[in-house]
Amino acid sequence: NSKKMAKQPVKVLVTGAAGQIGYALVPMIARGAMLGPDQPVIIHMLDIEPAAEALNGVSMELIDAAFPLLKGVVATTDPVEACKGVNIAIMVGGFPRKEGMERKDVMSKNVSIYKAQASALEQHAAPGCKVLVVANPANTNALILKEFAPSIPEKNITCLTRLDHNRALGQISERLKVHVSDVKNVIIWGNHSSTQFPDVNHSTVKTGKGWKSVRELVSDDKWLNTEFITTVQQRGAAIIKARKLSSALSAASAACDHIHDWVLGTPKGTWVSMGVYSDGSYGIQPGLIYSFPVTCEKGNWSIVQGLKIDEFSRAKMDATARELIEEKSLAYSCLN
Ligand code: NAD
Ligand code: LMR
Repeated sequence: NSKKMAKQPVKVLVTGAAGQIGYALVPMIARGAMLGPDQPVIIHMLDIEPAAEALNGVSMELIDAAFPLLKGVVATTDPVEACKGVNIAIMVGGFPRKEGMERKDVMSKNVSIYKAQASALEQHAAPGCKVLVVANPANTNALILKEFAPSIPEKNITCLTRLDHNRALGQISERLKVHVSDVKNVIIWGNHSSTQFPDVNHSTVKTGKGWKSVRELVSDDKWLNTEFITTVQQRGAAIIKARKLSSALSAASAACDHIHDWVLGTPKGTWVSMGVYSDGSYGIQPGLIYSFPVTCEKGNWSIVQGLKIDEFSRAKMDATARELIEEKSLAYSCLN
């Protein structure tokens, strides 16, 4: 029998699915952008009661799109039903910031959601469920989820900094007038906030003469050490200013990239940035959810080791770690 056995559907949960990122994300998942063009999916969508009707509308559109890979849809306002048997959980539910706010300004509303949903996931998700937190403050929400879902292995709880990573690739590509797929190995260190450190010291660009370092090609160190960094750090705010809404299509696309590479692996010689549980690598306090360069293989990420860190980078990596320590205590004070 030459016919290949059909793959079993993977159950993917999207919380906050009636919101703007959700609306961009679910069709990407249903088209195979997240798990591959031969992987059937069942999409679970969770939102809250005031958004129930809108959520039903998204469900109707998923039916109307007649996606070949989509084997089922569950749309619910019940976290238990939403989490039942899911293999992948993308946590987008929460409140976005508006113009003039910092991401931690949405802290008190959002961390309590992650505390509550931690137990639903812990009790009802499939064993080995991989969790990606998108809602802000993303690193701290992921940390709260981890702490209130102690039976989920810490390796399975991550947050999204791939959007920042992709933004950094985009800035280098624009500056050097090369295609974005010819730039690799930027790093986002730390928090998904304005203290993040976008680092190009190990990044390379494909040229006619092989891969060359970004530092060599962008001879303007001043641009790399100032404007490049602030542009990436402030890009979320720039989008809010322009759209009067926070980024959605790029956030959804980055969430797909994050899960895609985590499940299916990173290409040889390439790393990506993920917010993961710190094991103390690079002197970062263990137990924070901190963005590191990682490679992925067979569904597991590992932090890239042995990169040389100069003094400039060290100070920036420590500053963003300090902000995460502060956020953690702020989060606990919101929960009490
Ligand atoms: P949105 O307001 O359009 O949608 C959020 C949805 O979450 C709404 O439908 C809301 O009803 C729902 N929701 C609220 N509480 C919920 C709960 N307890 N359970 C389930 N659903 C709930 O917002 P958005 O633009 O889609 O953004 C969502 C989040 O993602 C925000 O926190 C935003 O700041 C964040 N974000 C993160 C990144 C990143 O790179 N990490 C990028 C963009 C946006
Ligand atoms: C982003 O980076 O676009 C999101 O985190 C939204 C925001 O508040 O900046």
